Amino acid sequence: MKPVPATAPVRLTLRRPDDWHLHLRDGAILRAVLPLTAAVFGRAIVMPNLRPPVTHTAHARAYRDEIMKALPAGMQFQPLMTAYLTDATDAKDIEHGFHDGVLTAAKLYPANATTHSELGVTDIRKIYPVLERMQAMGMPLLIHGEVTEADVDIFDRENIFIDRILTPLLAAFPALKIVFEHVTTSDAVDFVKAQADDGRLGATITAHHLFLNRSDIFKGGLRPHHYCLPVAKRERHRLALIDAATSGHAAFFLGTDSAPHPVTAKESACGCAGIFTAATALDLYAGIFDAAGALDRLEAFASLNGPRFYGLPANADSIVLERGGSVEPAPVRTEADDTILSFTPPGGRLHWRVAPQASERSPRQPRER
Ligand code: NCD
Ligand code: ZN
Repeated sequence: MKPVPATAPVRLTLRRPDDWHLHLRDGAILRAVLPLTAAVFGRAIVMPNLRPPVTHTAHARAYRDEIMKALPAGMQFQPLMTAYLTDATDAKDIEHGFHDGVLTAAKLYPANATTHSELGVTDIRKIYPVLERMQAMGMPLLIHGEVTEADVDIFDRENIFIDRILTPLLAAFPALKIVFEHVTTSDAVDFVKAQADDGRLGATITAHHLFLNRSDIFKGGLRPHHYCLPVAKRERHRLALIDAATSGHAAFFLGTDSAPHPVTAKESACGCAGIFTAATALDLYAGIFDAAGALDRLEAFASLNGPRFYGLPANADSIVLERGGSVEPAPVRTEADDTILSFTPPGGRLHWRVAPQASERSPRQPRER
């Protein structure tokens, strides 16, 4: 991890950003983490890997209601719902969910690729009828891009996914909109850049993958809070992700993959995958863009490229980021008395912060999708 220097105070006004890959969970964790995202982000693509997963439109609608109920009075936020694809997904249900404005996208977890993905797809050909419908409707497919075969080394799972699954998928469905979620390798970055410039393949990049390489998971001992999936890769891959995020290239956009887990589930003999960044996400990205001399491209990455990909308007209002302070990320405590630790960047402190500005927020009406 490279330290981000703190220098003179700077203020930066940005179009309000969105988070295009977020885990909100449900119940007490949802109530604890949602206000942190809603304080900064206008919308978020909400991941469906609950227990049980959100596999149907009716469940997505109920989950959206639960999220809106958990939103503190006076806050505005639009959850964009996704359906969790399984071998048994009903194409008609997905179609209705999309047409009715309940579903924005569908998520492909290869079975057992990551946290709560046991019911994921065992063979992509099993969902071809669903993908046909999605292609016809212009509904995006969001992909956790890792193969799961036991004989594939964990650090190679994304690379091999590109060759074995993603390349044939793009050829089989030439008009399907796809997001390659949380890319972690230079190979994925190069692959996305090499696609025809038709806006149908996008990629999210997390904040933590811009800070971590694989050695950081083992620095001075095993670091469970630096463990997520896809796992962080070599330093050269981290640098390629920074280049991609700060390049201004329209295919790359912000998706935190903020994944809250109680500290007890992380600090365990079998610690679960997931890094929680919702409390500090934009501060983390700003530090990276600042260090790369690319603050002028942060708005494209955080606030413009995502809506363009999804065919949605950018948010109308803005936020202010400030550099100059030095803040330690605070843990989040749930009403069930669980503690969720925020990702700690190098040096342990953040030098960018989103300025509080609740009173300046223009009212935004909740919309369908
Ligand atoms: C995510 C989670 O905890 O739900 N974990 C992670 O390491 N990213 C699942 C996921 O997005 O892979
Ligand atoms: Zn995720």
